[in-house]
Amino acid sequence: MSEDTNTLTMDKPVEQSLLDTSVQELIGKPLDRIDGPAKVAGRATYAAEYGFDNLAYGFLVRAPFGFGDVDGLDTEAALALPDVIDVVSDVETFLRNSQQGGETKAPTQGVSRVDYFGQPLALVVAESYEAARDAAAAVRVRHSAGVGEWDFDGRLDEATTPPPSQIKPKTEQGDVEQGLTDAAFTIDATYATPSQNSAAMELHGSIATWDAEGKLTLYGALQMPASDRLQLADALGLKADQVRIVAKYVGGGFGSKLGIAPESVAAAVASKKLGRPVKVVMTRHQVFEATVRRSNTRQRVRLGADANGRLTTVSHENHVSNLPDEDYFEPVGVSTHFLYPGENRRVTHEQVVMNWTLAGSMRAPGEAVGMFAIEGAMDELAEQIGIDPVELRLRNEPEQDPEKKVPYSSRHLSQCLREGAERFGWSERSATPATRREGEWFVGMGVATATRTNMLQKSSARITLTPSGTALVETDMTDIGTGTYTILAQIAGELLGLPLDKVEVRLGDTDAPPGAGSGGSWGAGSSGTSVYLAAEQLRTQLAKAMDCDAEELTLKDGQAIARNHSRPLSELVGTGMSAVGTVRPGKAEKQSNQASYGAHFCEVRVNATTGEVRVSRWLSTVAAGRILNEKTARSQVIGGVTFGIGAALTEELVHDPRDGRIVNNDLAEYHVPVNADIPPLEVVFLPERDHWANPLHAKGLGELGISGAGAAVAAAIYNACGVRVRDFPITLDKLL
Ligand code: MOS
Repeated sequence: MSEDTNTLTMDKPVEQSLLDTSVQELIGKPLDRIDGPAKVAGRATYAAEYGFDNLAYGFLVRAPFGFGDVDGLDTEAALALPDVIDVVSDVETFLRNSQQGGETKAPTQGVSRVDYFGQPLALVVAESYEAARDAAAAVRVRHSAGVGEWDFDGRLDEATTPPPSQIKPKTEQGDVEQGLTDAAFTIDATYATPSQNSAAMELHGSIATWDAEGKLTLYGALQMPASDRLQLADALGLKADQVRIVAKYVGGGFGSKLGIAPESVAAAVASKKLGRPVKVVMTRHQVFEATVRRSNTRQRVRLGADANGRLTTVSHENHVSNLPDEDYFEPVGVSTHFLYPGENRRVTHEQVVMNWTLAGSMRAPGEAVGMFAIEGAMDELAEQIGIDPVELRLRNEPEQDPEKKVPYSSRHLSQCLREGAERFGWSERSATPATRREGEWFVGMGVATATRTNMLQKSSARITLTPSGTALVETDMTDIGTGTYTILAQIAGELLGLPLDKVEVRLGDTDAPPGAGSGGSWGAGSSGTSVYLAAEQLRTQLAKAMDCDAEELTLKDGQAIARNHSRPLSELVGTGMSAVGTVRPGKAEKQSNQASYGAHFCEVRVNATTGEVRVSRWLSTVAAGRILNEKTARSQVIGGVTFGIGAALTEELVHDPRDGRIVNNDLAEYHVPVNADIPPLEVVFLPERDHWANPLHAKGLGELGISGAGAAVAAAIYNACGVRVRDFPITLDKLL
């Protein structure tokens, strides 16, 4: 069987897309998830559900103190308990790897120092989960506890600028101070958001097993198998090809499963030592305390506008936190760089070193918290100028990226605002706060812009056309509940002229070509493009077999049609036909500013007596390039908006000031919205194509929904009751 390759580096816009004509009529359709039946019937196997003979169970032992040195572990009592096999207590390895949550770099952490409460130290392995958990409680950690950094506000002066990651921590253009002095209107406001947890439904869990040749297979709850494999190999001193990762179904990640977590390394180390498969599933408490959190933020926003309400000055100065020696910083100002005009610009990030759980990526890192402040300040500015907040944004539509001076690849923010306002009935909003009341409820409306940077990630996928007339799509890309299985089947089916039930998609196995992984809203665009490229190559091969040019070829319902001649694919492919497509980011990313846009419209009711807030109506307009599946796309936006409402009203990790411990470490005490908290959320997609993004002409939207959503809630609350709250979550005590 022949296998061709087709590689595209995105150095320039792709004007024509093979998806522009939809012969098979699959693209864009609101199709049900093809993995849905397996999931609801319990046939979809998640990481912790794989069965093995001789499986042993591990339970993490963690530091019962917030900062200091481990002097040793007393394990005799634990080892004496029934069914206990071993205590794997290579403390150095555990400490080193327990900080490997969010990003791809290898940890360099010191060896015996505990940096945060609950940091993993050892793994107890037993014949049952219960025995392991019981024995873990019997391990005594001898330690010398010290006093860590647990007072964020008290340490703001010690903050330092973090090194650049993918995001520049610092921008300075024009003269911000002069701009503010000269402005007709100015805002100077400080916003704050607390630490947060991704709170994915599925707990972090791994099963590790080694074969006779020394190759590790890890069944893991992971978003990014291709890079997780490198991390895991690095942590264990292996070569990448000695590690295979399987993650076929993932029960949500929201950033917390971008990188490997302590349980994967622990399972691998224990399995190697014991010579049998080992399963480690973290408890909810462990997930909260020992994977990753989103950093808390403190954000000073200053805006200056001229007499016409046109911004001249945009300044966003941020403080975030992380553990010692960590480079990752919450990129709070990521959208501030390009969202609004103004010749005087400042964006800064300062890192406060804290002995709190590792900070990493979570649900639109940057925008989700940064847009609360920027959009909040825009709402304040509109009020000061005395114009409608929709109108203020329309007046501040830049012609190009104001910082990098490059064109927007596509930007339909004004259309999102206008269309949303029209559909939502925005004209009924009272400009004066606290003037609309129904019984004991104040009613108000708020608006905010949504934007999220569009990214492309290197991605490969293989498609094999089989003699039975089906297509097999393979990549180690994941579906974390986002709809990847379905959209990849749609793209392959569309381009190869196959109905959906003739396309099989296999994901989440590093034995397949390395995919983009699920993160940063790049999944659909990146992995979808690699499938597109593989299909494009197969179309060329099929045209050759049909003795025609690729442009003359029509593929529909399993038939190849050209020059009034038709043959079934099953005949054309011989023993099988296969192609690998690979896309790589290129110059297009730098030569344009790529982002998705939207507008959130929110109506809230605030109880005049109790301060209770209920979101009563919602509409989001979205322009994110071509929509590949209107149903899964809508679900993504609904999920994002739900997170945004949760961030605005309830989500907050509380750190104990005495030892940094996360106090509310489960879903009973850390409040994410439930169905009763969320009204029907209306989502409207505006037609758009983005030629700079990829040949699909689609942009990311997984994290667009959360971006700006909380700001719309805050603005609506202000409009309802006249109380401006600048720190999340907006709990009722802040309104009374
Ligand atoms: Mo997302 S926070 O990049 O999984």
